[in-house]
Amino acid sequence: APHGLPSPIRDRQHPSLLAQGYAWLPDRMRRAAGPFVRARLLGRHAVALRGPEAVRFLYDERHVRRHGALPEPVKSTLFGHGSVHALDGQAHRVRKAMFLSLLTDPDRVAALTDRTVEAWDEAVARWAERPSVVLFDEASRVIAQGVCRWAGVPLDDAEVGPVARDLVAMVDGFATLGPRHWRARAARGRREAWLTRLVEGVRDGSASVPADSVVAVVALHRDVDGEVPAPRTAAVELLNVLRPTTAVCWFVAFAAHALHRWPENRARLREDADGAYAEAFVHEVRRFYPFAPFIGGRTVADLTWRGEPIPPGALVLLDLYGQNHDAELWKEPYAFDPRRFLGRTVGRDELVPQGGGDPALNHRCPGEDITVSLLKALSARPAGLEYEVPEQDLSIPLRRIPARPRSGVVLTGVRPPS
Ligand code: HEM
Repeated sequence: APHGLPSPIRDRQHPSLLAQGYAWLPDRMRRAAGPFVRARLLGRHAVALRGPEAVRFLYDERHVRRHGALPEPVKSTLFGHGSVHALDGQAHRVRKAMFLSLLTDPDRVAALTDRTVEAWDEAVARWAERPSVVLFDEASRVIAQGVCRWAGVPLDDAEVGPVARDLVAMVDGFATLGPRHWRARAARGRREAWLTRLVEGVRDGSASVPADSVVAVVALHRDVDGEVPAPRTAAVELLNVLRPTTAVCWFVAFAAHALHRWPENRARLREDADGAYAEAFVHEVRRFYPFAPFIGGRTVADLTWRGEPIPPGALVLLDLYGQNHDAELWKEPYAFDPRRFLGRTVGRDELVPQGGGDPALNHRCPGEDITVSLLKALSARPAGLEYEVPEQDLSIPLRRIPARPRSGVVLTGVRPPS
């Protein structure tokens, strides 16, 4: 395929999530007669929707709630038990306000980006002394180090590698039942225990962390009932900052993939004086490449979507990957072209790699500012770095959730920009 990703139309004999990965819902959507896809997920009746109107329908708490919607294997790897993802109503708003205060404040976002760029520059000096590096792995370590420094989580240099590996494993293993899944559970167990001790130390005064730091704010946060949650729950929420930030390494690898496949972007990024092209490039990376496949909740009322009934208790999914490749929203959706984002504002409910709607009122990701800022800083940097991309398997199989370039993006002859 000219775009370097396999077409989503394939494998019609096995229309299941595990067999089809990202193509599962888009493929079924294409063949559906009605306004949505009816499917089965983990033995439950599910319907899948997409489009801006579906975003508003599905993110309305009178229609759909999260309580009881998340499968146990996902909680035990990706999100953690008791996390913000599964809260509804006022309990959700109060917990979510904490995340938004930490993750959308421009000074904090800038400070995180600075810490991470520092770690990146230190790393580049080391890469220059090695014959080759795997960008995905290197980026995970750089970002894990940057986010821990920024958050006030004490971390010895020797621990950066193991921590980054565990944070990546939690994301890598949520949608499979094989060995990756068991690595993810073990990684979560280790890191929850580690951060629970830190939270307990902050609460009893035995650990000294900066007063205004992310660690301090999360450890001392009070829920809607006025109480601090159990230390383990606070540790889960700390991980909900460290883990997804580190997972920006997926997009760093995807950005390098795009720069290699469509090298005209390197020149455009170099000549980009006002940062407009970098912003557009980052949005296109988030739109084009497969990462979060869909989100979902359970219906809490008798609902009708475009004339079709949906019973209470059904799973309703928003097909994020499908919406980001919907030809009704995106011209030539399978072409990588950042220019589609130049000179226009992106509608709130159009581009949904990190969910839709209003993050203060629903579950939309509170980390989009951070994701965009880090990616701009780090993907404009590969554009400035000098390196070669040797022969390797850069394919991105869509059956693997989460997808990633098979080789991890190997670079040789890395040298800082002259
Ligand atoms: C929620 C994607 C980065 C923290 C979400 C959701 C998605 C998502 C799809 C769920 C939306 C929903 O359920 O409606 C991503 C992707 C990222 C990313 C693809 C790229 C790496 C981040 C970062 C942070 C973060 C950098 C924090 C520093 C969270 C939290 C939630 C969340 C705390 C739960 C929000 C809630 O339930 O109200 N993210 N995210 N994410 N994300 Fe992200």
